[in-house]
Parts: sequence; C-alpha cells; structure tokens
Amino acid sequence: MKRVFSGVQPSGTLTLGNYLGAIKNFVPMQQENDCLFCIVDLHALTVPQQPGELRKQTRHVAGLFLAAGIDPEKSTIFIQSQVGAHCRLTWLLQCLTGFGELGRMTQFKEKSQGKESFSCGLFTYPTLMAADILLYDTHMVPVGDDQKQHLELTRDLAQRFNSRFGELFVVPEPMIAKVGARIMSLDDPTTKMSKSNPSPASYVSLLDEKADIVKKIKRAVTDTGQEIRFDPENKPGVSNLLTILSLCSGQDIVRLEEQYSGKGYGHLKQDAAEAVVAALEPVQQRYSQLVDSGDLDDILAQGARRANELADATLHRVHKAMGLE
Ligand code: TYM
Repeated sequence: MKRVFSGVQPSGTLTLGNYLGAIKNFVPMQQENDCLFCIVDLHALTVPQQPGELRKQTRHVAGLFLAAGIDPEKSTIFIQSQVGAHCRLTWLLQCLTGFGELGRMTQFKEKSQGKESFSCGLFTYPTLMAADILLYDTHMVPVGDDQKQHLELTRDLAQRFNSRFGELFVVPEPMIAKVGARIMSLDDPTTKMSKSNPSPASYVSLLDEKADIVKKIKRAVTDTGQEIRFDPENKPGVSNLLTILSLCSGQDIVRLEEQYSGKGYGHLKQDAAEAVVAALEPVQQRYSQLVDSGDLDDILAQGARRANELADATLHRVHKAMGLE
C-alpha cells in the first residue's frame, strides 16, 4: 500500500479552489492507499490569527474533510499541532536548507511583497511542509499547482538528507490534477482563487448559500468576444468557468465546448452556477450534521494517536542517523 499525505490550512473559509484542486481528489485515493489528511494549524500561524477564530477554522476544515467524503475508517485525519514531531523535524531540516533556497520560493515572495514586516515563520514555512510529508514515509502528495515548488524543495531535502546520512526518507511525488489544479478568481481570472483574498466576490466559499453562489458566478468576469472556448491564455475567464463546470458536472471540457458552440456566456454561467450548487449541496448538508458532533473530537483524537506513533518512529530514526541518539 502506498502512503498518501496532504494538508490544508485552517486560515479562512475553504474555497471551491481548495475543493476542486485538492480535497475532492483526496476521496478516491482512499480506496487503495494509506492516507493521512492533516489540518495544518501551525502553517496558519505564519500570518496573524485570532485564537478563537483559528480554533473554529480548524474544526471547520476537519468537518469539511469528512463532509467531502474522507472516511475516518479508511484514512487518518489529524491536527498538525497535536503531533510534536512536526516541529522537531522542521528544525533538523532547517539546518539542511539553504537561506537562498527559501528566498526563491514564489509563495514567500508573493506573500511578503510590499509588507513592512513579516514573520520568520512565513520564510521557513516550506521546511515545516517538508517535515509534514517526510515524517510519514509519504509516496504521493495530492495538491494544487501552487504547491509544486514546495514539493520540489521537499524532494531536494529528502535526497540531500539521504545522501548525507543514509537512505531514510521516501522521496515523495506530487500529484497535481490535469484539470482544476489552479482554479482562478472569479473577479480577476488571471489570479488564483484564494481564501485570503479580501473580496468575497472573488471566490465561492464551500459554505456559501445557493443564492450567493449563483450571484457570484453570474457576475464572474469573462473575456471579450463571444466564443466559448477553452483557452486559458487568451480567455482566462471563460476557461475557468469551463473548468469549474467540467469538474462539478463530470463532463469533459471538449464536449462542453461543442455543447456551447454558438451560445452566449450567459448560458455557460447559468449552467456552471447550477453545477456548483449541485456539487456543494451534499457536502454542505453533511457538514452541518457533523461539525458540532462529538464524533469529530473522537475522530481527531484517534487520528492524532496514529499520526504520533508513525511520526515518532521516523523522528527516532532521524535522530539516530544524525547522531542525536
Ligand atoms: P492551502 O491551505 O493554501 O490549500 C489547500 C490545498 O488547496 C489547493 N488550492 C487550490 N487548488 C486549485 N485551485 C486553487 N485556486 C487553489 N487554492 C488552493 C492547494 O494547492 C492545496 O493543495 N502549504 C499548503 C498546506 C500544506 C501541505 C502540507 C500540503 C502544509 N503541509 C503537506 C500538502 C502536504 C497550503 O498552504 O495549502
């Protein structure tokens, strides 16, 4: 059985981008793999958080994992801060990471750009992500396109460690979907849909009401011209809607292009809105039943127990290899 690991930050309401680019893809992987899905609350602390809000959002992500179809009988769901080995391995990996390597991370550059001050955590964040993955002998990491560079660093660190201290880490492979790895913002389809965008019109939240979803998609920025064609470079808005409709309805993009030939953008928006509503409805229903139930606490406690066992065993091997034990 292959090991799968992925993480989601509890730093705001999850968006349709998080769902289509990552969480939805976690679900089928549970059939044949040993999966761990982590709510990475320590990552969220790289930018200021309100304690009460962070606690709430952590539960929110756990509830959405379950509502989306992650089965705690098959997969391990846990909260990062409940497994001490993540921070401990991060330090060890930081001592193998070049300052320049971290400075080249595009997410760091984007998030720090124009800011007068930002935390060291924002800078060293990719080593924490590497520790998350390497602690569990992970073979595959399903993520959206924006995590590609962090995965490359994780692979480099694993290889560097192995060549210096002996073959210990599994070198993980990123799993980035061909369609949907970068869902774009609705009000500016040249930028990624993001939960940290201050404009709620730019994203669909997974818990948005039906009327809001319809309104946001109908107001989505489209491109000049009238043709409905998948061409992300020249028609980013239309291509984003085609991607969303394809993933929410299960129809192929080429088929959709044929189907909408000669029709206006209004049709596409109407159908995309309906498809998103239909895809999110069952998730929202399950979420409302789950989020306040005691079951969630039991699942997270059980997940933390298993994750601690696996992570401590790896950390012990790392300590021995590095001369710490
Ligand atoms: P985060 O919390 O920003 O996003 C969670 C997942 O959602 C994907 N994603 C998207 N996919 C498509 N279109 C979008 N617009 C979009 N926005 C977000 C992300 O690529 C991600 O897969 N550093 C990670 C969390 C993390 C992690 C890990 C992931 C920490 N440790 C270990 C994998 C393995 C992050 O900030 O994701």
